[in-house]
Amino acid sequence: MKHTPPIIALDFASAQESLAFLDRFQGEKLFVKVGMELFYQEGPSVLEELNMRDCRIFLDLKCHDIPTTVYKAMKRLAGFGVNLVNVHAAGGKQMMEAALEGLEAGTAAGQKRPSLIAVTQLTSTSQDMLKHELLIETPLNDTVLHYSRLAEESGLDGVVCSVHEAEHIYQAVAPTFLTVTPGIRLEEDKNNDQVRVATPSYARENGVSAIVVGRSITQAEDPVSAYQKIALQWEGTKA
Ligand code: C5P
Repeated sequence: MKHTPPIIALDFASAQESLAFLDRFQGEKLFVKVGMELFYQEGPSVLEELNMRDCRIFLDLKCHDIPTTVYKAMKRLAGFGVNLVNVHAAGGKQMMEAALEGLEAGTAAGQKRPSLIAVTQLTSTSQDMLKHELLIETPLNDTVLHYSRLAEESGLDGVVCSVHEAEHIYQAVAPTFLTVTPGIRLEEDKNNDQVRVATPSYARENGVSAIVVGRSITQAEDPVSAYQKIALQWEGTKA
């Protein structure tokens, strides 16, 4: 997973819209993220289309349910030809272990199973929300660290977190553990509903494994040049 290109969040309502968007990126080897909106609309067929285009895929369904249900869901997802899937760490250790077992059970012999990461805290979550809405008094950073350790103990490959937490996380987990970070914005972009945002350069400097970028690319006037600008900052070639 190291040195992956920016992962583009295909937050579109249909496969048609997503594929028309991808048509602009001729010649780029893309890594894309399919989230709930697109997957619930199109189902596994959109993943087949993306596979035919040689895209690497992060299927971002953020599973969070009882262990048995998550085991069965992951067993199904393992057959979809995706590279990366996720669960919520808040589902607990037993659920994360079940997710991993499900993925392994659903992966055909001789094939590599998709990597499995856990969402720590959504990048739209603030300290204030944690305290007043969810009644969690623990500082947000400590919850992220604790969830990361728990994910590692459960055998997962990494976490979804904000760039600001990565350095802290690597003090507690193995250097090979993945940190996949959304909430990425160029200096000139709007934050939208994201709270814990960072630029691609800042993400690189903080040693994260991968960045996920949605609106800064999909809603840019020129998505291809926005993507290239982000990729250059991420690779450290030029700001
Ligand atoms: O448009 P934007 O760059 O904010 O999109 C971020 C993407 O990353 C969205 O698809 C969102 O669902 C996803 N995501 C997130 N925070 C997480 C996990 C996933 O923003 N913790």
